[in-house]
Amino acid sequence: MTTLLPATEAATPIRCVDAAGWPAVLATLPPLAAAFAQASGFEAKPGRIALLPGADGRLETVLFGIEDKGKGKGDDKGKGDAFAVGRLPDALPEGTYRLADYPGDPALAALAWRLSGYRFGRYRERAAPTARLAVPAGVDAAEIDRIADAVAAGRDLVNTPANDLGPAEIEAAARALAGRFGAACTVVEGEALETGFPLIAAVGRASPRAPRLIDITWGDPSAPRVTLVGKGVVFDTGGLDIKPSAAMLLMKKDMAGAAVALAAAEMVMGAGLPVRLRVLVPTVENAVAGDAFRPGDVLKSRHGLTVEIGNTDAEGRLILADALSLADEEAPELVFDFATLTGAARVALGPDLPALFTEDDALAAELAATGLAVNDPVWRMPLWAPYAGLLDSKVADLNNVSGGPFAGAVTAALFLRRFAPAAKAHVHLDLYGWNPSAKPGRPEGGEVQTARLVYALLKARYGAR
Ligand code: BES
Ligand code: MN
Ligand code: ZN
Repeated sequence: MTTLLPATEAATPIRCVDAAGWPAVLATLPPLAAAFAQASGFEAKPGRIALLPGADGRLETVLFGIEDKGKGKGDDKGKGDAFAVGRLPDALPEGTYRLADYPGDPALAALAWRLSGYRFGRYRERAAPTARLAVPAGVDAAEIDRIADAVAAGRDLVNTPANDLGPAEIEAAARALAGRFGAACTVVEGEALETGFPLIAAVGRASPRAPRLIDITWGDPSAPRVTLVGKGVVFDTGGLDIKPSAAMLLMKKDMAGAAVALAAAEMVMGAGLPVRLRVLVPTVENAVAGDAFRPGDVLKSRHGLTVEIGNTDAEGRLILADALSLADEEAPELVFDFATLTGAARVALGPDLPALFTEDDALAAELAATGLAVNDPVWRMPLWAPYAGLLDSKVADLNNVSGGPFAGAVTAALFLRRFAPAAKAHVHLDLYGWNPSAKPGRPEGGEVQTARLVYALLKARYGAR
């Protein structure tokens, strides 16, 4: 992936035009370019692109159709899809470009450019676009590059299939990240995992690839404590409650929460935010074998609550529960957990809109607004306390599933809530981790939804060092 360039005279202008402004722009074009634009049928509609020649036949100007600048209300006026310029890199020949008359946020446009240039090239050469963007003065190109690099690293993890990405490989990625920023990284496995984190050990024990809990800490120990917890199920067969093949097909992405936590950590550490950051990644393979945990088993969690297993496919909440308990032991200021936790959240909100759960109304509002501002949206869903009874068990403190078909994302969130009572604020993000089809700035495949959002929120709250 190419990086962004500073503003330079030598860049080909990309003139952004809406329908209303098009006649005036057309009038400013040299006759040959104007004739070419019309002959090739350019219309100033969102996403349309035309390459216009100069007198010598070389590319001189690019036209890019944008949303009507007058459309929308208030702050949204004329913004349209903040990532719309993500269409451009694939459509343009090698060269250096700059945006002209762009009405939206130039930093988000530059980010979209970078994010759209991502390719997963591990198993087959996949050429990345060669068009480079020069960003205007005042836009922090280095920060945008850092964010895009962190997203790319996270996407690589999600896209890598389980045969090449087990718990050990997630550990290696975490250790490499920690090493880059001088962070401490410890890993709990084996007997220590069985005694200290019994739910993680139980979910992961059927796999020959040993389960573990990765624990990274970074930053000034006296700074506000922020902990990121990511679900790292490298493959989710469902366990003995095995998934049908169609539901299992994409389950290499069941570690997307871990990828989000690591990507957000990379952004936070890269920017040097004044927080004491902790990243906890419980990572397991939810496999089928003779020693697999079973429906009906009762497990004692790290927290002490006993959990009856109603369904081995509700494994994410089990491993997160033990990790959240550890997070909670130091009563951090903020705990985020990220997880591809329920199909129900996807039924409710679709693949592009992660579900946000928190009891903190102000924080929920701040997250929703920040998500829109940085084009990494979330939608709040309720921790509806009266549904907690759906998790009642006849033999244990609680069941890991509700027996019925209702409010599956809510009951999963309520389950997690039981294990992080001491944190000043706990945010649970139930995400899909995947773009089912390509959109500008969002190539098809693995996606680290909510990492940029959390970084933006932390940056706004704690500022740069
Ligand atoms: N990883 C899945 C959830 C999932 C499925 C996320 C598809 C995104 C796409 C999770 O471990 C799971 O299997 N959840 C079950 C819970 C159920 C057994 C209560 C689900 O959602 O069906
Ligand atoms: Mn599952
Ligand atoms: Zn899962």
